Amino acid sequence: MTLADEARRVAAEFEYSKDDVNKAVKEFIREMDEGLTKDGTELSQIPTYVTAVPNGTEKGLYMAVDLGGTNFRVCSIQLHGNTTFSLTQSKVAIPKELMVAKTAKELFAFLAKQIEKFLQTHHAEHYQGFVRRRKTISNDEGFREEEVFNLGFTFSFPVNQIGINKGLLMRWTKGFDINDAIGKDVCALLQDEIDALHLPVRVAALVNDTVGTLMARSYTSPGKKGTLLGAIFGTGTNGAYVEKLSKVTKLAASSSAADASTTNTTGNMIVNTEWGSFDNTLKVLPNTPYDAALDADSNNPGIQMFEKRVSGMFLGEILRRALVALLNNPAVPLFADDTSAANELHSTTNVDESSPLFTRWGLDSSFLSTAHGDASLGLRMTRQALDRDLAVSAASEEDAAAVKLIAAAIGRRAARLAAVAIAAVVLNTGALDAAAAAAATGPPTTTTTTTTTTTTTSQEEEAGDEIDVGVDGSLVEFYPGFEEYIREAFREIDGIGAAGERRIRIGIAKDGSGVGAALIALVAGQVAGGEEGE
Ligand code: BGC
Repeated sequence: MTLADEARRVAAEFEYSKDDVNKAVKEFIREMDEGLTKDGTELSQIPTYVTAVPNGTEKGLYMAVDLGGTNFRVCSIQLHGNTTFSLTQSKVAIPKELMVAKTAKELFAFLAKQIEKFLQTHHAEHYQGFVRRRKTISNDEGFREEEVFNLGFTFSFPVNQIGINKGLLMRWTKGFDINDAIGKDVCALLQDEIDALHLPVRVAALVNDTVGTLMARSYTSPGKKGTLLGAIFGTGTNGAYVEKLSKVTKLAASSSAADASTTNTTGNMIVNTEWGSFDNTLKVLPNTPYDAALDADSNNPGIQMFEKRVSGMFLGEILRRALVALLNNPAVPLFADDTSAANELHSTTNVDESSPLFTRWGLDSSFLSTAHGDASLGLRMTRQALDRDLAVSAASEEDAAAVKLIAAAIGRRAARLAAVAIAAVVLNTGALDAAAAAAATGPPTTTTTTTTTTTTTSQEEEAGDEIDVGVDGSLVEFYPGFEEYIREAFREIDGIGAAGERRIRIGIAKDGSGVGAALIALVAGQVAGGEEGE
């Protein structure tokens, strides 16, 4: 048995056929529909209370914070009122111990502290003036309304949103696990810590990162129609899309529904699918031994099953487990100098016993991008990465080729699954039909979006009958060929095919969630007159 044969066998375990993809799209559509009718379903289909997008004429200085899976970002956004904006931001890695802190307070106090630092650094005048007045004014509030920043809070976890700035944490995902926070209003948790530091900041809107991406992309997209879907393929994965309010039947049962429908002039509601939990019961998702073992060893076995096969936090771990399985098989000559062709370094191939290969989460997903995209002579780049990142010294070209093949298979499977989610949204919203109809009758007469001159969008042609999808996250940005694999799958999907695939436009909305959150904070501030609560 040669190493190449074994690598091909493992790579084949990650194949997800045309038939699999089509079955998954059908199941995804079924779960989308089910999630719109009731709570407690696999796809949570959370109404976001965002019903419209800005039109580019808004002005003012807004703040946004973004708690993602890896980093916490604080930004201020100056909207110029002519569809452009300037953005100042700072980013800090979230300390691992805070991701699993005992109390929510520990995490949220850290977040508020970062906001304070940001204000001191970037808005010193505003901040100091405010603190000075607070000290001299005797009333409780100690500030004037207009001095307070409206802040959009991008919180990239599943939240049962019950108002524009109110949402109860349903569960943690990615590497987070703070039991104390479950069921609590995350806006109140943040506001309490902001108030404890006497900062001139009001949490005005709670925004999932996918919703922010959708808003930002819609604001900056050159198309005539709004963006249909905002999707993240980063540490985690998820999508939010524009749904007809009339289809969100579960809203009718809740008291906040009345608010949503009376203030809603668009007839639409942005819905956060939380597709990371698509098919938790594994009806259609692939399940290799590596997927199963990863899940069993995770913080949250049995949930986020789609995310665990698609997103950046997990792909490296899947590869690690596949490689360790090969290493543990004495019949397979992986990283074994004797059976590999001589490498030019003329030293013995060795896997150090402290190699991150033997530690859970030891292999970063960026390694997959390196291996998959490696076109260097003799796969030198992969061999260097094996040495540098995984303490595998003097790996041979055969070793690197095996690693590359398996990494590519894992990445391709992730992209095909990503295609399932996007395609299901496109098909279930009838967007392809609507796009064709719009093309036949010319541009729509009313539109909620506008073009922009910002740099957050890539160069694309003026929209005709395209469906616009805004994406963000390390995988779509850095994984070589991720979009092309998605497109390959689109062409195989019934109802999309080659013609439909050409009409789906995918554009990066880089760091869109920050801008998107600020835009929603602005709209929320206008609609609610800055009041909190729904
Ligand atoms: C969370 C989503 C989020 C996604 C991308 C998932 O783990 O559940 O709320 O949108 O990650 O950050």
